[in-house]
Amino acid sequence: MRIDIITCLPKLLDSFFGHSILQRAQQAGHAEVLVHDLRDYTADKHRRVDDYPFGGGAGMVMQIEPIANCIRKLQAERTYDDVIYMTPDGERLAQSLVNRLSLSQNLIILCGHYKGVDERVREHFITREISIGDYVLSGGELAAAVLSDALIRLIPGVLGDETSALTDSFQDDLLAPPIYTRPANFEGWTVPDILLSGHEANVDNWRHEQALARTRARRPDLLNE
Ligand code: ADE
Repeated sequence: MRIDIITCLPKLLDSFFGHSILQRAQQAGHAEVLVHDLRDYTADKHRRVDDYPFGGGAGMVMQIEPIANCIRKLQAERTYDDVIYMTPDGERLAQSLVNRLSLSQNLIILCGHYKGVDERVREHFITREISIGDYVLSGGELAAAVLSDALIRLIPGVLGDETSALTDSFQDDLLAPPIYTRPANFEGWTVPDILLSGHEANVDNWRHEQALARTRARRPDLLNE
């Protein structure tokens, strides 16, 4: 999977993608994340990417020209499955949407800033708008990083254990069950006996029941009961 992120704050993303699983995924060739500085696509000598809103009002608006230049250059080089705009008024991100998007080959993600982008960008270039929650961030970079992380860890081979993404919370509309590791007894706080029993079917049953109980207690909205 290739992800092209368009931003006016590229440094904010560099360190995020330069570490841990995301860095290894790129080094192993599973994913390619390219961060594009919007200011490289403006004809303005001051490298401005925003201007005052027509009709007045507070805040600046991201201009269409640099965004169009960047998206068109990328689209001339390859075909993209989606051109995504990260925005609080987009579709709310959930695991089901991540799963669907993880089948993509090439994605563009545009990060908004200031008051947002000129509406014509949304009308003519954007194919999908995504929000990571009902709160407003100062820019779309963290949201783009959240989406990219959720996508990249689903690519086969990225996580060490091939099955571990499938047992995540939300993958089957249930929260994940409790997990434990050594020591089995920490200052008298012990691990449930069943996990030490070696009986795989009983362990599976226990985990399913725990996942159900946890989901019922914390996120009953996920259960169709
Ligand atoms: N940009 C600012 N706030 C955001 C949010 N909640 N989700 C996605 N992009 C955003």
